[in-house]
Amino acid sequence: MKVLVIGGGGREHALVWALRRSARVRTLRCAPGNAGTAALAETVPIPADDVAGLAEHAATERYDLVVVGPEAPLVAGLADRLLELDIPVFGPSAAASRMEGSKVFSKEFMERHAIPTASFKVFRDESEAREYLMAEGTAYPLVVKADGLAAGKGVILADTPEVAAEAACGMLTGRNFGEAGRAVVVEEMLQGTEASFFVLADGNHVVELATCQDYKRALDGDQGPNTGGMGTYSPSAYLDDATRRIVMDAIVSPTIAGLKSEGCPYRGVLFIGVMLTDEGPKVLEYNCRFGDPETQVLLPRLDGDWFDLLLASATGTLDQVRPAWLDRTAVCVVMAAGGYPGSYGKGAAISGLDRADGRDGIVVFHAGTTRDDDGAVRTSGGRVLGVTALGDDLTCARRKAYEAVAEITWEGEQHRTDIGADAAATLEAIRE
Ligand code: AMP
Ligand code: GLY
Repeated sequence: MKVLVIGGGGREHALVWALRRSARVRTLRCAPGNAGTAALAETVPIPADDVAGLAEHAATERYDLVVVGPEAPLVAGLADRLLELDIPVFGPSAAASRMEGSKVFSKEFMERHAIPTASFKVFRDESEAREYLMAEGTAYPLVVKADGLAAGKGVILADTPEVAAEAACGMLTGRNFGEAGRAVVVEEMLQGTEASFFVLADGNHVVELATCQDYKRALDGDQGPNTGGMGTYSPSAYLDDATRRIVMDAIVSPTIAGLKSEGCPYRGVLFIGVMLTDEGPKVLEYNCRFGDPETQVLLPRLDGDWFDLLLASATGTLDQVRPAWLDRTAVCVVMAAGGYPGSYGKGAAISGLDRADGRDGIVVFHAGTTRDDDGAVRTSGGRVLGVTALGDDLTCARRKAYEAVAEITWEGEQHRTDIGADAAATLEAIRE
């Protein structure tokens, strides 16, 4: 089989790594990839957001499967283009990708289908938003969200009317997020523990994948600014069997059935950010792609053929496959460039990769990296590496991950030292 993976981050390195292990995959390519994918797959130098260029390339190469990593090309209609060309694609249509691409669409969808989520209002007019946000009766804290894709920056947690009004007006005037901010969702702030839930769908059938916890803040103790994710572990210590059943029944099933009934059946991965509240699990957001760095802990736990699962999702045969997972824990620690998620330098030489990557149970997934002609690997992004360890339990996986992290360095490197620490302490206490 001939497979193309689209994207160039840590998520895509993990996707390529898992596909390389499939006996059925002969030719594997990645566009545009990074220094990590280049060691496992041929590089196709087309950017992930060049929908026309990617469609043209796929039409010439006649892939057996195209796996789309990031959300932007999906929202822009890449899956639709590939289907028109009769090329199997893993990833939803533009219409189904609105679950991530438009927060107004996804909130109104949840309302139509009685799916538990934070209560909300939609604004398109600046003065109406300001009036509501400054009104006596409006309860704080609340959350202000830009409707469209905003590279993870379009969500403002507001404690006061001033902060909320400033955020909403910055969006509605087009000042902060361009067209993505022309509509705004204002919603209730939910309290609880957040968890990452993944399912594969093929339009009709749905299968659950493993669960994860993501650490979104830049600094230890959940301090500092929000990031794309500074580390993960799987399985989640918070999504027990009973809670997972509730998520499947109250959230996943009505979502997949609702999209089908509205004429946009969902194919691909649906990644649901869930808040576990006192009233039960509620949807924080839907994503039409895998999480990053969630994928870097999901795939090392997979016990089976990744290609078979993705192809089944693309071709409507998910009822014939069942993913299985190793009964082990995976921890991923993200090593980032100093300054991330703000401005950061590029081009620093990374040392110690060979020492870390060769260890038992360790995989170093590349995100923002490039390789020089002389073989040196350099930083080229904010999140640079995701160091994943598999262990018999969370404590063991954490120890192995951090031992590997200690081998790797570059000028200005930063990482969190507490990925999984809260849950490891809780699990240890239960055991004692
Ligand atoms: P989103 O892109 O909608 O997932 O928002 C990004 C992050 O903001 C989420 O992962 C949560 O940590 C936080 N967040 C979003 N909506 C809410 C909410 N209604 N209540 C509390 N936190 C939220
Ligand atoms: N790690 C969160 C995300 O991929 O959206």
